[in-house]
Amino acid sequence: MCGIVGYFGPSQNSVEIVLEGLKRLEYRGYDSAGVSFIDEHNVLQNYKKAGKLDNLKIELKGKNLIARACIGHTRWATHGGVTDENAHPHHNDILSIIHNGIIENANDLKKELMSHGVKFKSETDSESFLELVTFELRKGKPILESISDSFKRIRGNSAFVILYPKTGEIFAIKRGAPLVCGINDITSEALVSSDPYALAGIVHKLYFPEDEVIVHLSGGNKNLVNFYELDLTKTTRYLSKKQDMSVEVSEKGEYEHFMLKEIHEQPELIRNLTQYYFAGEGREALEKVALYKPNRIYLSACGTAAYAGLVVRDYLEGINRIPANVELASEFRYRDPILKTGDVGIFVSQSGETADTLAAQSLCKKAGVKTLSIVNVDGSTLFRDCDDNLLIRAGVEIGVASTKAFTQQALTGRLMSAAMAGDLKDEAKKVKLTGKFALLAERIDRLLVQSDIIKSVAESIYNKKGFFYTGRGAYFPIALEGALKLKEIAYVHAEGYAAGELKHGPIALIDEEMVNIALVGPELFEKTVSNVQEIKARKGIIVSIGPRNNEELMDLSDYYIPLDFEGLEELSPLYVNVVNQLLAYYMAKFKGTDIDKPRNLAKSVTVE
Ligand code: AGP
Repeated sequence: MCGIVGYFGPSQNSVEIVLEGLKRLEYRGYDSAGVSFIDEHNVLQNYKKAGKLDNLKIELKGKNLIARACIGHTRWATHGGVTDENAHPHHNDILSIIHNGIIENANDLKKELMSHGVKFKSETDSESFLELVTFELRKGKPILESISDSFKRIRGNSAFVILYPKTGEIFAIKRGAPLVCGINDITSEALVSSDPYALAGIVHKLYFPEDEVIVHLSGGNKNLVNFYELDLTKTTRYLSKKQDMSVEVSEKGEYEHFMLKEIHEQPELIRNLTQYYFAGEGREALEKVALYKPNRIYLSACGTAAYAGLVVRDYLEGINRIPANVELASEFRYRDPILKTGDVGIFVSQSGETADTLAAQSLCKKAGVKTLSIVNVDGSTLFRDCDDNLLIRAGVEIGVASTKAFTQQALTGRLMSAAMAGDLKDEAKKVKLTGKFALLAERIDRLLVQSDIIKSVAESIYNKKGFFYTGRGAYFPIALEGALKLKEIAYVHAEGYAAGELKHGPIALIDEEMVNIALVGPELFEKTVSNVQEIKARKGIIVSIGPRNNEELMDLSDYYIPLDFEGLEELSPLYVNVVNQLLAYYMAKFKGTDIDKPRNLAKSVTVE
């Protein structure tokens, strides 16, 4: 997902404000960055550079940045390579635009415009919108009508922000992509962004426009922000909410990477979660969910969130005996599933903006199925689209490789399962579960203090040819998640596999250069150990994560990471998962990759 930010107000350092907003969003997409602004002589200035935001800042050094209106963009390339020319903003001598999403009919639009003599400078789809609006303006249409008529012709999910030097104003519009605007009516400032996080601490009122609503930042005239339908009539199709000014802008602090910081934040977040849901603001939301009586549950998500969904499915089937299946949202949305009244759709997401997950939710909603989110970002599109929501309370997650969000998604699912089982009325059960959460937090705290053993294992294996993560039962989702972490940040090939499946083919890959990270929980212990023996017999390298003081496992393993599972029961897989988070982190560190901003990735995939 690209980061988009626009500012219009009395302050003359609009460029600095936009750059700060881009910095907060940089982890969402970071192939290139750029700004457009209207300088003190009302001239449109544009600067954009491939690479990280710092490259743009170097480009801006020494330039006159006095401006009241500015738009900025950090890119995650969809159409066109990572070059200065393909970076946003896209501009001509009449206006400048930034874009998040995909214009599916860009080629047709470009051909039509080129037949009228329009010349394109970039390989991007985004530039076709710039030239479409410009084409309408050149016919003499006012800006609002030009934007409306152009947007009606765009197909696909997109959000645009437009800077119009003639009036010095900013406009925005979206369909199926995140867009939020905010105002500070004390300072008469108005901003727009793809993410509320960019506006935190600057605005104290947020507006979430619905699809196909034109947003107009008028910069201190009558209303700081105006909303129009495509027929140019005023509209109230937006949600508004107060934004508390205490900004939670995450900093790395003493940690070398956000990912390591976020791994270390987990114990405290775990302790706070039961407090929030059993005795805090989350109580009401959980009590609402306690009333659910689903016949079947479809959990739908992408990536790490889907693996957290697998953990939650095990709780729902194991504890609640509710039939539940996990559906990859990118498949589910096209599968034409057989949804029945009484089914419930649960959507797991950190950002709440993942295009495929949003589409899966919309499919369920249209089928009359009740929809519930397990989501991190309050006010995100998924949060607003679902009937009910359970916030995972992970705080801002900057690292592109999700860590604390996975743990909080799974644990929020555990609390949801408890609520649906009627445990909220049983103090003893709540106390027991709170104790189990606290025990998990304490075990992770201890693990983090002793992470040197994990670091040394990582140093011994990080250069090996390939990795299997194997687990049975509740550890199979953890195997999938562990492999994904390693792929994402160390760029090595890793596969999560059901331990019992290896002998059905993949074991052919085992040799002295292949590492098998065996997740050996107390459950199904003997069965899992026998799978380890199969790999040992073929000279595979064995890293075991399993119960401490186990001679048999110790003898079998080249590397052995002992854990104390006592008392954790159904939370044990989440304990093992933290070992995998650290293994991936340290292996990536030894490989020297960009751990917080891995190549080719974005924090939130808002395109299909
Ligand atoms: C996880 O490490 C990845 N960054 C990715 O798989 C992510 O979990 C997936 O894109 C879903 O994102 P969401 O949770 O914001 O919906």
